[in-house]
Amino acid sequence: MNVTDAISKRRSVQKFDPEHRLSYPDIESLILAAMHCPSAFNIQHWRFVAVESPQIREQLKSTAWGQPQVTDAGVLMLVCVDLKAWDKSPERYWENAEAKVRESMVKGMRGYYRNDQLAERDDALRSGAMAAMTIMLKAQDIGYDSCVVACDYAAAAKIINLPNDHAICMMLTIGKRLEDAYPRPGMLRLEDVLITDTFK
Ligand SMILES: Cc1cc2nc3c(=O)[nH]c(=O)nc-3n(C[C@H](O)[C@H](O)[C@H](O)COP(=O)(O)O)c2cc1C
Repeated sequence: MNVTDAISKRRSVQKFDPEHRLSYPDIESLILAAMHCPSAFNIQHWRFVAVESPQIREQLKSTAWGQPQVTDAGVLMLVCVDLKAWDKSPERYWENAEAKVRESMVKGMRGYYRNDQLAERDDALRSGAMAAMTIMLKAQDIGYDSCVVACDYAAAAKIINLPNDHAICMMLTIGKRLEDAYPRPGMLRLEDVLITDTFK
């Protein structure tokens, strides 16, 4: 499937075949695609929790107001981000670069995030959102549908033992569609969203 088709065919599907589970190679191909995403300073903040356990999925469903796709989808993927990844052996993110480039990038990220928790969180979530979208497009490519699911993130974090210096960026459900998505509910016009040069 080409990228344009994957973008236009992706819809938020809510009814998945509960009998169909994604195989490990399928899950791996989603994650490998996401690992190619851009990330701030190449920090690759993403950590992916693929929830297969029916018991844990049942608990997570209650954090998502009982939405059935949380238990029914072929896999439930929590795209998490490590907010402090910039301070955890950051040389590894630039290990193949020249030493002077690597040193400059490490100095750059330390200077940028050290005293700015908002930038730290914003950039981690930006990078995580890239990964989440890429997973959804890759899912489309290999014959699956997907849906973002909102949840009580603090409650979900407890269930998956999320470390204190991580955040959940996105809960994703991916699987075999049983029903089409609802018709597109309404799309803003191009002129509502495309601004030239500056806001007025
Ligand atoms: C942050 C976020 C939270 C969302 N939460 C839910 C949700 O809890 N349940 C759901 O069915 N769809 C959820 N969606 C999907 C949106 O409802 C959907 O993207 C929107 O209606 C447009 O439809 P489409 O994705 O099919 O184009 C969410 C999307 C985002 C980005």
